[in-house]
Amino acid sequence: MACHGAQGNSADPNIPSLAGQPRLFIENQLVLIREGLRDVPAMKGLLDGVPDAEIVAMAGYFAAQKPLPAAGRPVDAAAVERGKALAARGLCGSCHLPDYSGRQQIPRLAGQHEAFLLASMKQFRDHPGPGRDTIMAASLYGFKDAELADLAHYLAHFR
Ligand code: HEC
Repeated sequence: MACHGAQGNSADPNIPSLAGQPRLFIENQLVLIREGLRDVPAMKGLLDGVPDAEIVAMAGYFAAQKPLPAAGRPVDAAAVERGKALAARGLCGSCHLPDYSGRQQIPRLAGQHEAFLLASMKQFRDHPGPGRDTIMAASLYGFKDAELADLAHYLAHFR
């Protein structure tokens, strides 16, 4: 809670909000991190020995919280338009849903912190590492940095 926010709405632009994320997505990621299959340096060791039942309970709690739109840069209408076209080209909504609310093992993107989204997409594109979804990484293949920035701006402001 100190990092992700008491109700799962993080105040730090580099730390993702968990509020309203699909329960299964949170569960999966917590297990991957606990088992050392996904490396999140800031979370290293935090989940050591945490039993499955507690992971399920935490995921249920955060999934049930109301996602509040993150405060960020003011809306840049041109960047939003470019981001929208790029998301259509990348078929992002086919998995993340057309309103980007996510489903099952696929995260919510709508209203997530822009800085986190950008860093996360760069990681998928450049060094996804073990435990990360390969089709997701493939969807960002060939996108330029400026295009990822437009996508992050569009998704962070998606209401
Ligand atoms: C084939 C389905 C699929 C498509 C298409 C897809 N994604 Fe994803 N995406 C996923 C899955 C599954 C995850 C979670 C898996 C993981 O973290 O390894 C994910 C994770 C993400 C994350 C990380 C968010 C977080 O909270 O950790 C971002 C950002 C993202 N996707 C953006 C996009 C964008 C932008 C596009 C379009 C260019 C896209 N995705 C297309 C399935 C997809």
